[in-house]
Amino acid sequence: MITISYCICALFLSHVFAAPASSISGVSSMSSTGTYTSSAVSPIETVPFASDDPNPILWLPEDNNTVHQPIRGSLGATILGPTNNPIVDENADLVAPPTTDVGTVDNAKWPFSLSQNQLWTGGWARQQNLGVMPIAKEMAGVNMRLKPGAIRELHWHTAAEWAYVLKGSTQITAVNQNGQNYIATVNAGDLWYFPPGIPHSLQGTSDDPQGTEFLLVFDTGNFNEDSTFLLTDWMSQVPKEVLANNFQVDQSAFNDIPGSQLYIFPSNPPPDNQQNPVSPQGTVPEPFSFELSKFNATQFSGGTAKIVDSTIFNASKTIAVAEVTVEPGAIRELHWHPTQDEWTYYLEGEARVTLFASGRNSRTFDYQPGDIGYVPAAYGHYVQNVGNTTLKFLEIFKTDKFADLSLSQWLALIPPDLVKAHLQVSDDTIMHFNKTKPVVVGPVGPSS
Ligand SMILES: *[C@@H]1O[C@H](CO)[C@@H](O)[C@H](O)[C@H]1NC(C)=O
Ligand SMILES: *[C@@H]1O[C@H](CO)[C@@H](O)[C@H](O)[C@H]1NC(C)=O
Ligand SMILES: *[C@@H]1O[C@H](CO)[C@@H](O)[C@H](O)[C@H]1NC(C)=O
Ligand SMILES: *[C@@H]1O[C@H](CO)[C@@H](O)[C@H](O)[C@H]1NC(C)=O
Ligand SMILES: *[C@@H]1O[C@H](CO)[C@@H](O)[C@H](O)[C@H]1NC(C)=O
Repeated sequence: MITISYCICALFLSHVFAAPASSISGVSSMSSTGTYTSSAVSPIETVPFASDDPNPILWLPEDNNTVHQPIRGSLGATILGPTNNPIVDENADLVAPPTTDVGTVDNAKWPFSLSQNQLWTGGWARQQNLGVMPIAKEMAGVNMRLKPGAIRELHWHTAAEWAYVLKGSTQITAVNQNGQNYIATVNAGDLWYFPPGIPHSLQGTSDDPQGTEFLLVFDTGNFNEDSTFLLTDWMSQVPKEVLANNFQVDQSAFNDIPGSQLYIFPSNPPPDNQQNPVSPQGTVPEPFSFELSKFNATQFSGGTAKIVDSTIFNASKTIAVAEVTVEPGAIRELHWHPTQDEWTYYLEGEARVTLFASGRNSRTFDYQPGDIGYVPAAYGHYVQNVGNTTLKFLEIFKTDKFADLSLSQWLALIPPDLVKAHLQVSDDTIMHFNKTKPVVVGPVGPSS
């Protein structure tokens, strides 16, 4: 018989734990007087059970008819001072965290709506990088909008550029180091990728009367959209005599070149099926765009996933994506990515994510459409659909090959005795662990 008094257990906890686990198959249980008893060998001689508090999210952004307060059960108190209620409404788990959140985890939420926008005659652009989100070391993002015909001017940069079209369609062009060219119209839900240093253009087509909007992801956290190599900046910073010599024309040919960058500027929409001049070197061997919207999703019990990395979208050597949907009540299972950070972009629905940062450090974030999330490599996490519409998001990685590890699959593929020794769960529970990665799991039925 092993007995640990309640008061000693309480010292190990930062909170008061609720009712004990009700049915732990004859191995160990907590008596009504608050002590542990064990009839068999118990591995938890020194620590108390985890809390049984279900710790749900306490409100959603749309439940905004009442003023939400930092109160969870007997913890917390009302706000007396000034408060920004729309932000409170969107961040229930920061305002009233679950008691399972402990220690510290750096901020992992950045809404593009908080980025400073750059407004131009042809559209706009806003970015997220290390300056606003220091946890996001490996990748940065830009959200850009082009009116029909508007051009993001010819440029290149030291980072690779990966894109997901959000609305309308975008014409892209590029030329590689071998003089091979590429042109394509990339539609909503489809991708493009330009390797580092490859010069390219982006232009809104007239397919949508509004033009186009897209998400760009760069494979470095310190990318800065204001430090790209622009055609007009360069030409205006070279002596005209040198331009004349270089292009073998009279200097007067360059009388009207812009004196500073155009960045995003209006122009006529390109004609349908516009072609590049024929290159003597041919076209690029691996297409710079990919029709993700036409790629079949894999169906799981709680949603779907489309995983596209360089094994399928061959040109995309440094960025991989999983486009995931999660039905109401379902979750993208507890998992981690062995060596890659995840840059997440929320497209639709309401998400709740807890990052486990090792040791006693966990933090829960809530995400809405247009928000960026970030999960450093190896951090355990899940993505729960807490709304009542389909949740859709992109998991983006700086890698040539997508990889994740499933908690359920791990525990299903090692000797059950090992799992039982750690968790004191029954054989029946272990039977539910999934030997083939469940990925997105549906809601559990009513609890027995
Ligand atoms: C509550 O939220 C919904 C959607 O999030 C919004 O349309 C509505 O205007 C909000 N109401 C108030 C009073 O803020
Ligand atoms: C995608 O799924 C549809 C419908 O199930 C099927 O007809 C089609 O062949 C699939 N396409 C590919 C490329 O697997
Ligand atoms: C992509 O690479 C695979 C494997 O190397 C190859 O089978 C496939 O044809 C390539 N696809 C394209 C479009 O080049
Ligand atoms: C969605 O959930 C909100 C509360 O979160 C509720 O008011 C609303 O009726 C629900 N909508 C549907 C279609 O179930
Ligand atoms: C395990 O997950 C797979 C999807 O990878 C699913 O098809 C299967 O039904 C799941 N098995 C169980 C027992 O839930």
